Amino acid sequence: GELPPFNNFPPADFTVKEERDGFPASMAKIRKDFGKRYPLYIGGQEIVTDDTLDSYNPADTSEIIGSVCQAGVAEVDKAVATAKQAYLDWRDVEPKERAQYLLKASQYLKDNMYDLCALQVLEVGKQWDQAQADVAEAIDFLEYYAREMIRLGAPRRMGNAPGEYSQYFYQGKGVAAVIAPWNFPLAISVGMVSAAIVSGCPVVYKPAGISSAVGYGIVEMFKAAGLPDGVFNYCPGRGSVMGDHLVDHPDVSVIAFTGSMEVGLRIQERAAKVHPGQEQCKKVIAEMGGKNGIIIDDDADLDEAVLGVLYAAFGFQGQKCSACSRAIVLGSIYDRFIHRLKEAAASIKLGPAEDPTNYMGPVVDKAAQKNVLEYCKIAEQEGSVVIKHEAPAEYRDKGCYAPLLVVDGITKDHRIAQEEVFGPVLSIMRAKDFDEALDIANSTRFALTGAVYSRSPKHLEKASREFRVGNLYLNKPSVGALVERHAFGGFKMSGVGSKAGGPDYLLQFMDPRLVCENT
Ligand code: SER
Repeated sequence: GELPPFNNFPPADFTVKEERDGFPASMAKIRKDFGKRYPLYIGGQEIVTDDTLDSYNPADTSEIIGSVCQAGVAEVDKAVATAKQAYLDWRDVEPKERAQYLLKASQYLKDNMYDLCALQVLEVGKQWDQAQADVAEAIDFLEYYAREMIRLGAPRRMGNAPGEYSQYFYQGKGVAAVIAPWNFPLAISVGMVSAAIVSGCPVVYKPAGISSAVGYGIVEMFKAAGLPDGVFNYCPGRGSVMGDHLVDHPDVSVIAFTGSMEVGLRIQERAAKVHPGQEQCKKVIAEMGGKNGIIIDDDADLDEAVLGVLYAAFGFQGQKCSACSRAIVLGSIYDRFIHRLKEAAASIKLGPAEDPTNYMGPVVDKAAQKNVLEYCKIAEQEGSVVIKHEAPAEYRDKGCYAPLLVVDGITKDHRIAQEEVFGPVLSIMRAKDFDEALDIANSTRFALTGAVYSRSPKHLEKASREFRVGNLYLNKPSVGALVERHAFGGFKMSGVGSKAGGPDYLLQFMDPRLVCENT
């Protein structure tokens, strides 16, 4: 029958007892399983390697989530060869039938919601509501891309010349390497993987090392959906050992990457080189960083603006490519805004995400902590501290905490106004009028998200045109894009490729073909 139209999966409702109780119950259950070994999964077979990497809880680094087998060059070769073989059948499976696997996968996520959320809380330190939003977004990607493929799968007749029948249709490009980030550990992985698969491209999936246990959930998901062996291959490994090898592999046709600008640019450069035996040009889709600004106009609703900036800057510890790292504030409201923001930031509770009363928790691992602390030093040197709010010592001893830091007196040429931190560091920048605010907002090499709090229709309209980012939000925070409604992605140094969860996304994984018959 006909599929119902796409709708976003609803957010968590913790007034409902079942939802409130679901998280602790699942966390207790998952803890009993801690320390287990995660194998690779290639061609429907579990593969164990000698090299393993422990994934730990960032709130308590002595707590080991699991021990994850690490692919080397040989395992990558095996995974790519398996995917290449699977491609020969998978590319000709009807688009409608490919879509059914995504719908079954979506059902699996719905049926296992609390366990999937709880694992994120413990493996990457996501707050409850945000973990639920991540799983909900994964469901949305599956539901949306299934419908998109059905839409695109119908061959199109081109022109109407008599004596001629021309058909336009799509074919999956080939093996897709999916290189995923840890910050939306299920959603972004499922988004890239499912887009490739439904488009006809078998996948070699490299989850981020930090979130490989969450990534393994995709193995379970596709097993439950009955996806043919070899179409999805789980291939975690150290970037330094197997990253370049996967990107360089002559049998990889598409590379879908989400992560830092540095790695994204490296992938694009390497993917341009043709290796012996390579039969196709590689397509790279890379979602990279941001240095996102929120403009606070002089007539903004300050209650809304302060909460919006706090959430966008410090939700999940600022570890989102969409996070707000610059508040650009009009001069006449500057002191009032800072005063209100400081009070609100001081009231934030810091501690493990496991306790839902904590607004902000640890950053994702020790390396992230070191990086953020270095940027805190830079921020304190370049600006003056508005507030530096630390987690209680009992938590700091065990976990990877960085302070919530707000500095002001920042201008366009400061490093802290230009470089992506990926942590809870917010710069406040003063603008004399709205035009200058727009100029500051656009003054980085990134163009991912932005937001404006204003009551002036003229200013909002001006911002719609001249605040040049991929996703602009008016009177709402810069984070939390929903599939379809807020199709997500930027340009400039924020990436190449079309928006995730948007109408052009699947086209990137396919080659269009035209057949013209003389009738
Ligand atoms: N889609 C996420 C957000 O909008 C970022 O990756 O916050």
